[in-house]
Amino acid sequence: MRLAASPEELRRELAGLPRPTVLVPTMGALHEGHLALVRRARQSAGPAGTVAVSIFVNPIQFDRPGDLAAYPKPLARDLEQCEAAGVDLVFAPEAAAMYFPDRSITVSESLLSRHLCGATRPGHFDGVCTVVLKLFNLFQADAAVFGEKDVQQLAILRRMARDLDLPVEIIGHPTVREPDGLAMSSRNVRLSPEHRADAPRIRRALEGARSLLQFGERSAAPFLAAARKHLEDSPFLRIDYLELVDAETLQPVSPIKRPAVLAAAVFYGDVRLIDHVTLPP
Ligand code: PAF
Repeated sequence: MRLAASPEELRRELAGLPRPTVLVPTMGALHEGHLALVRRARQSAGPAGTVAVSIFVNPIQFDRPGDLAAYPKPLARDLEQCEAAGVDLVFAPEAAAMYFPDRSITVSESLLSRHLCGATRPGHFDGVCTVVLKLFNLFQADAAVFGEKDVQQLAILRRMARDLDLPVEIIGHPTVREPDGLAMSSRNVRLSPEHRADAPRIRRALEGARSLLQFGERSAAPFLAAARKHLEDSPFLRIDYLELVDAETLQPVSPIKRPAVLAAAVFYGDVRLIDHVTLPP
């Protein structure tokens, strides 16, 4: 496995590697969810293509300095996992190698980022779009794989590829879950034992609400009320948002006529977790 720490090293390493290049952008602290993305990337690259992983805790997408400082960075372990998973190339730069101190260009999305995480994390998706576009350019990637857990991120990146004519196929991969249903996240390791035990309720709250579909329910309020009740039964969590949005535009909907997404973000202490379910019409 090759390793690059700067854009120059990356260009050198890439020159010797065969196309197609399929990229898995990550912020490290790899878990089984990321490894599933790597397997999906290999499927897309084929045995002779290049599977590349970027490990970069992107400072410009963090809205809370404490969250950035606390983000786990087990690089040695991440590299071992990449090697074992058959990754061909890892790019793990420092922030100084990615951003000029006087950088002045940002990619900004203005519709799909209005609600959900975009509303409660100002600037987050500008940071994501900017770094992902840079990574696509640096890798000259043919395709890139992202988890569906970050449903809004995936929709926005698809929109960026469409609106900016990026020659990159965006591949989504289903959320990987712990046996108790909690969506895998690099932030899960920061939960206290009590909070970790409570956290599967996020999934249960969303799925419980979704079951109202079978009673013919279509207006948003009962779905939101059912999920909110289940979440608020927890003595530990604080709801950041709970929204029902159109699956394509990510704007609030009621009644549900097209595929929709019921999505939540909650805080356990200062650890923020997200999850969602899709609602067929
Ligand atoms: O999903 C993530 O881990 C990050 O938002 C990404 C796509 C790697 C950009 O920093």
